[in-house]
Amino acid sequence: MDVDDGDAGLELVHLLRRITGRLDLMGSEFAAANGLHPTDLRALVHLLDARREEIPATPGWLSGKLALNSASVTALVDRLVRAGYVRRTRDNRDRRRVLLTVQDEAVRLGWAFFGGITRDMVSAMREFDGAELAVARRFLERMHDVVRADKPSDPVVRLLPLDEATTERLLTVAVHEARPADVMPPARAEWTPDTWTPATENAFREFHRSHFHGANGTVMYAVEAEGSLTGMIRMARISPDEAETGMWLGRSARGKGIGTAALRALLAEAAAAGVRTIVADTSTGNAAALGALRTCGATLTHHGDDVRAELPIG
Ligand SMILES: CC(C)(COP(=O)(O)OP(=O)(O)OC[C@H]1O[C@@H](n2cnc3c(N)ncnc32)[C@H](O)[C@@H]1OP(=O)(O)O)[C@@H](O)C(=O)NCCC(=O)NCCS
Repeated sequence: MDVDDGDAGLELVHLLRRITGRLDLMGSEFAAANGLHPTDLRALVHLLDARREEIPATPGWLSGKLALNSASVTALVDRLVRAGYVRRTRDNRDRRRVLLTVQDEAVRLGWAFFGGITRDMVSAMREFDGAELAVARRFLERMHDVVRADKPSDPVVRLLPLDEATTERLLTVAVHEARPADVMPPARAEWTPDTWTPATENAFREFHRSHFHGANGTVMYAVEAEGSLTGMIRMARISPDEAETGMWLGRSARGKGIGTAALRALLAEAAAAGVRTIVADTSTGNAAALGALRTCGATLTHHGDDVRAELPIG
């Protein structure tokens, strides 16, 4: 599509570029004043975001975020460790995995950089009401999608029917990267929806075991992307022609096209099993789920905040 000089969007694109240019300049000045390379500061910002969003940050994850090869990331992490901003720790659950943990000094540095500007931006946003901010959010999320560097076009995804061994691997992902409430049906009395405990882990095992080999009409698959387990997708028969789906991914796997690829793979499984329609229930606030469903051709019907998606097969 050609962009026309009179296009209303063009002015907004220039404005976005001015904002990001200004923030970049502030970042470079701040990095130089603190003896950091601009990329080191970018790395710290990603690591601070990961800490806030509870994403386990590994050197591999960071190299994806910065589009750097692993040798450069090793050198960068060495510098941050020497400066006392980051520590390398072993993952308690998977001892082969190294996690990058930001130290309080990095939080102080981040706040020294972002504190003032964050306060000023939040205070300027008070000039807008909730509905206006919701539109601004939708707009910025859409622009973010367009410019995202870490969005591989088509991740290679395989669906692995669950058995004991796969369920254990899936549990490791769930414990590290999701809440019990995200990965199991509504809370039962014996477990807490936010925290993993031995009781919750056992409830997870039992819940998944009860669907091994399609028992109770539901097939559950672990979603493997680029060789790693990332989450779960299910197909639950409602009638001979119709099945329901639902899925979750670990936090660090979200937003990279894996959900869409897993849904596509599930549609292929459903077609092979003779299913004619897949349905899914989600909510207006779940932009990622809605995006994946839409991309796979769903028709969406809204009932207040609830959304029902229908995907015809074949
Ligand atoms: C919902 C979920 C499975 C989607 O998988 P995903 O891999 O994160 O999604 P994808 O990267 O394939 O993105 C799907 C679409 O949503 C958009 N999207 C992804 N993350 C987004 C976000 N945080 N905000 C806005 N849009 C987003 C993508 O740009 C893409 O749209 P496009 O095809 O138009 O570019 C995953 O995010 C998840 O596990 N969330 C938590 C559990 C959950 O909500 N499950 C669904 C319950 S109904």
